[in-house]
Amino acid sequence: MDKMKSLNDLFIHELSDLYSAEKQLTKALPKMAKAATSPDLRAAFEEHLEQTQGHVARLEQVFSTIGATPKRMVCKAMEGLVEEGKEMIEKKKEAEPATLDAGLIAAAQRVEHYEMAGYGTVVTFAQTLGHREAASILKETLNEEKTTDKLLSKLAVSSINPRARKGEGEPRWRPEETGKSSRSGGTRGSGKGTASAGRRRTSGKSTIDSNVDNYRGENAKEMGTSSRAAAPNERRGGR
Ligand SMILES: [Fe+2]
Ligand SMILES: [Fe+2]
Repeated sequence: MDKMKSLNDLFIHELSDLYSAEKQLTKALPKMAKAATSPDLRAAFEEHLEQTQGHVARLEQVFSTIGATPKRMVCKAMEGLVEEGKEMIEKKKEAEPATLDAGLIAAAQRVEHYEMAGYGTVVTFAQTLGHREAASILKETLNEEKTTDKLLSKLAVSSINPRARKGEGEPRWRPEETGKSSRSGGTRGSGKGTASAGRRRTSGKSTIDSNVDNYRGENAKEMGTSSRAAAPNERRGGR
């Protein structure tokens, strides 16, 4: 490990760790998006991929603001989290679609919470060290991680987990169907590949979308203050 005499050394170390973590995520998120069967979930992963590219750029901005360069290091924790996500993706052929999506959300929320812990720490370090501009840049990213975490909870609770509970959705691959084009909808028959956006869904499309939109609205208001981090898949208020 690099020299770690002062809080500033530790700050640079933590920023470098996050830099590695974010770069790993820019490679992992497209795979998560491709594996997702829910169009809403896929869209959430794709949107977060764009944000994540922005997080990499913001970290570079922070390094230049404080006159430092990222240390060459690999975030081992993120390697492990990405590996667990990959294990979930590998279940694609055997899992029910909604159950697979619930598993992808579980993996993604572990990632978000790891990032939230990391950014929470560096925001505090930046404030203590008097790096006001760096603190405010890092806080923007922290807020986006929190928003993503909440959006994933919302998708899980409002639609994906209940569908997974019912075992809803058809397995995307069945041995007896190999090579045949199957029933209506045209979502199977290739044995692999992504589910089409037209995959069978119950009536929920507009409800989910409006839930997500409402939720984003609410959340945007909240983000001005450092709000409490929601636990993964947290259910609010019961039902
Ligand atoms: Fe990020
Ligand atoms: Fe993230």
